[in-house]
Amino acid sequence: LQALLAPKDLQGLRLLVSAGPTREYLDPVRFLSNPSSGRMGYALAEAARDRGAEVVLVSGPTALPDPWGVEVVRVESALEMRKAILERYPWAEAVAMAAAVADYRPAEVLADKEPKAVAEKVLRLVPNPDILKELGERKDGKVLVGFAMETAEGLERARGKLLRKNLDLIALNWVNREGVGFGSPENEVVLLLRDGRVVELPRMPKRQVAERILDLVREFWRS
Ligand code: CTP
Ligand code: CA
Repeated sequence: LQALLAPKDLQGLRLLVSAGPTREYLDPVRFLSNPSSGRMGYALAEAARDRGAEVVLVSGPTALPDPWGVEVVRVESALEMRKAILERYPWAEAVAMAAAVADYRPAEVLADKEPKAVAEKVLRLVPNPDILKELGERKDGKVLVGFAMETAEGLERARGKLLRKNLDLIALNWVNREGVGFGSPENEVVLLLRDGRVVELPRMPKRQVAERILDLVREFWRS
């Protein structure tokens, strides 16, 4: 019903969305990850689809069903996510990186499960590539949207990411506020725009946050 009632104001927009966590494997049965549920990215994909956009969703492992009418590409690691995103970047006119990409991966991945040992174990990690920063370096006139989860100095850090990654918009999430953020159906975000505008949204369902973000994507896309 929502799909029928929505204005088709994103008709013709080709939107690439990433969502969910990544998994960085240590061996075939163990990985490093984070509690991202994927809900914010899926809400964006669904809202954009309902407004007439063509949507490709690159998703890390989530418990959510594939949204109808959206091409879903399932990936696990940050490196797989990077490959999937870069492959579809030329196609897209706008990209929203809602995925919680792991910043590090184990320096080595064992081919077989390692039996536990009694001794203390030190894990060596190497940094993952910053996918969104790479997109920002190319830019190619595309609308770029990032998300930032911060627990302190949120506005300054989010603004830093907006500039450093050459984005049009970044949505700042406060993870230490109760009942919002990771895994919850609601979110309380501040939108920071390239032109200096700051839009503080009240706590609202992720779907509504998605609609507000898409209003701004539309504005940037049109201009
Ligand atoms: N991001 C990305 N690739 C990474 C890390 C982050 O594309 N390897 C994207 C996220 O999807 C998000 C934005 O960059 O849209 C900001 O992510 P965040 O983790 O807040 O930023 P980082 O640059 O990783 O900084 P921090 O040290 O605060 O984690
Ligand atoms: Ca990070």
